[in-house]
Amino acid sequence: MNKEIEKALNSQLNFEIESAHIYLAMAGYASSIGLDGFENWYMVQYEEELAHAKKFINYMNDRGARVKITGFDDPNNTFESILDTLEISLNHEKKVTKRINDLMDLAQEKRDHATVSLLHWYVDEQVEEEDNFNNLIDKVKLVKDAGLYILDKELETRTFVPINTEEK
Ligand SMILES: [Fe+2]
Repeated sequence: MNKEIEKALNSQLNFEIESAHIYLAMAGYASSIGLDGFENWYMVQYEEELAHAKKFINYMNDRGARVKITGFDDPNNTFESILDTLEISLNHEKKVTKRINDLMDLAQEKRDHATVSLLHWYVDEQVEEEDNFNNLIDKVKLVKDAGLYILDKELETRTFVPINTEEK
């Protein structure tokens, strides 16, 4: 594998793990203000991010690339409200989308068709991620406090659906 692509994939897979920690901190905040449904929802998000990292790792191992795990900054643990966590999350996902798009540009430039194929999955996933947070922000703004309780109950039902981390 091209060294520049290997480096960029390592950077992204570590960013996915960092994202997992960011959402884990938000799950903790949700729990601290009594929103168990949001806690559950963010815990699922945490698992999804780890699965995104694992999918990159498995791909790199299949291609004979060297996976390198890095550290990262402490996640934010202080929030104003659940709406605040959602807005920060949406901004974070926009950052992820930009990173995936940049990775795609690099893979295309280097004519690494296998990596391009893998990245199609992430491009599609990012559309869903941004949509999820956009929808939740809209709902929270609509329902305000009384409805937040009902919405919280709905979010309790979210379950983690494992993705196939072995195949593209
Ligand atoms: Fe992700």
